[in-house]
Amino acid sequence: MEQIVVERQGGVQRIRMNRPDKKNALTAAMYAAFAEAIRAADADAGVRVMLIEGAGDAFTAGNDLQDFLAHAPQGAGPRPVLDFLQVFSHAAKPIVAAVHGVAVGVGTTMLAHCDLVYAAEGTKFSLPFVNLGLCPENASSFLLPAILGYQRAAELLMLGEPFDAAKAREVGLVNAVVPLAELGATAAAAAEKLAARPPASLRLTKRLLRRAWMPEIEAALAEESKAFGERLASPEAKEAFSAFLEKRKPDFSRFG
Ligand code: COA
Repeated sequence: MEQIVVERQGGVQRIRMNRPDKKNALTAAMYAAFAEAIRAADADAGVRVMLIEGAGDAFTAGNDLQDFLAHAPQGAGPRPVLDFLQVFSHAAKPIVAAVHGVAVGVGTTMLAHCDLVYAAEGTKFSLPFVNLGLCPENASSFLLPAILGYQRAAELLMLGEPFDAAKAREVGLVNAVVPLAELGATAAAAAEKLAARPPASLRLTKRLLRRAWMPEIEAALAEESKAFGERLASPEAKEAFSAFLEKRKPDFSRFG
């Protein structure tokens, strides 16, 4: 799967979203390959840490909106998005993220599951779920209030407006903001430091840091996924998605 590229450098497994002409928007096939890459890294004793990044000029524009409608979760069939979210949130090894360009939707919410996050100056983050007629996903309805505080989480999730790297740093979603030219080296240096730490101690530390959160994360994933699936079929979401594909502003005035 060339849209998810996996590369090993010492103990660091790089996982790169690689669909630059679509800002690395994630399709069902990409979610499945991404989940498989995390599973394989977690199972491989040679891998100490994962480093996730985006090719071209974006981290990721989030769910591919067209593909998403085509693969809306139905019945008990395969659910690549939910599987990805579960695998990512249960990863035993540390995950470092190098973020640049745009990080939309799941591109931002996945950062709340990472252990170290570095962003390039100029990165635009956004959580546009409400504006798409949807609702929070990826346990963000739990993790964002927990990490950012309630009002900050409500501002980002209810207004759904883009925010910059300085704000992401201020609210605690990223560890540091660096010039774009230094992003790769900064994230790689952090990943290499982690890769040199005692691996069992590191995994245990990650597990303990997340111990109190895991039941909440699992409950949020389950409830959000059900609600998100229902929202995808809603007239509000249909209007929002059509507007994006038709390159026009959505009109929510007729909904009660
Ligand atoms: N799903 C499907 N296609 C997407 C996409 C997405 N989430 N994000 C970007 N693309 C496509 C665009 O349609 C465009 O395709 P085209 O060249 O065939 O027209 C291409 O990627 C480049 O995007 P473009 O919108 O021209 O880039 P931009 O720099 O002007 O804007 C974004 C970048 C990310 C702000 C904008 O593309 C956007 O808002 N995307 C939707 C994000 C979104 O809502 N994600 C879902 C969250 S649940």
